[in-house]
Amino acid sequence: MVGVQRSQARWDSVPTDSTPKNGSSKRTASLNRAAPTPSDVSGLAATELELCDVSFWYDTATGVIPAIDSLSLKIAKGEFVSMVGPSGCGKSTLLRLMAGFLQAQEGAVYDESTLVNGPDWRRGLVFQRPELYPWLTVEANVAFGPRMRGLAAAERTKRVRHYLELVKLWEFRRKRPYELSGGMQQRVAIARALANEPHILLMDEPFGALDALTRERMQDELRQIHARTACTVVLVTHSVEEAVYLSSRCIALTDRPAQIAADIPIDFGAASEGVQGREIKASRPFVALREQIMDYIWH
Ligand SMILES: Nc1ncnc2c1ncn2[C@@H]1O[C@H](COP(=O)(O)OP(=O)(O)O)[C@@H](O)[C@H]1O
Ligand SMILES: [Mg+2]
Repeated sequence: MVGVQRSQARWDSVPTDSTPKNGSSKRTASLNRAAPTPSDVSGLAATELELCDVSFWYDTATGVIPAIDSLSLKIAKGEFVSMVGPSGCGKSTLLRLMAGFLQAQEGAVYDESTLVNGPDWRRGLVFQRPELYPWLTVEANVAFGPRMRGLAAAERTKRVRHYLELVKLWEFRRKRPYELSGGMQQRVAIARALANEPHILLMDEPFGALDALTRERMQDELRQIHARTACTVVLVTHSVEEAVYLSSRCIALTDRPAQIAADIPIDFGAASEGVQGREIKASRPFVALREQIMDYIWH
């Protein structure tokens, strides 16, 4: 477990308007600075994603909003990492940096050893709301990414069937999204992301809009999906219970600008074969770990 001191003082020197006053501002300095290289090139075989000293801030009309502060993190292939933290601390920002939708002003993100400088099919993103194309059928929604990438029709058909079966929606393939429940729509969104066969699945509060029972069912499905695919998963969630239940590692973030408050290994997966989810969540070791992680967020 790693305890990290906050470093709010770094941001005191950030100009509060969007125009740098002189060449020494963070913004100008970052333009002149080469991106750091991955820390351990020889050991990258097992590293899927690496954040090297990443800082990000939003330049707004009313001032600078620091979101991420010098954050470094390595995620290994096949890991299921969850990220929890107070609301507004920078979780979605961090996920968008990993996806390549945002670029760090300082530091760098590497997908294996390649610098992330834009979105890529290797990194699939699932949002809180499914954001499906309402005019397309379920199968056309799932086929969309592979079609855009120019994959052959036979390969597209194979993938659509495989991933719709994985999320148990094959028989609903001809329906439109609005004919499905919220949970089913979110499963379509997961299948759509998986159909690109991404190396990393980035999920931003994917079950946040679902009712409690559907959410628990979706958690079990996500567990099975992770077990059946070789995908690395990074899950942002406001539910510490969900994080402890699903992941093999939980990163607790500080208040904004986000830094790592704790990096905690978790192992309820192997012990849970054949055991009901509620039983695991009510067990003494589970509750103890959940409360320990809550302490990092509620302080
Ligand atoms: N596009 C934006 N412009 C300005 N500020 C933003 C923008 N997006 C997010 N923020 C601010 O950055 C901080 C971190 O946001 P976010 O990453 O969405 O937090 P979280 O996902 O942890 O709730 C918040 O204070 C939020 O208001
Ligand atoms: Mg968010």
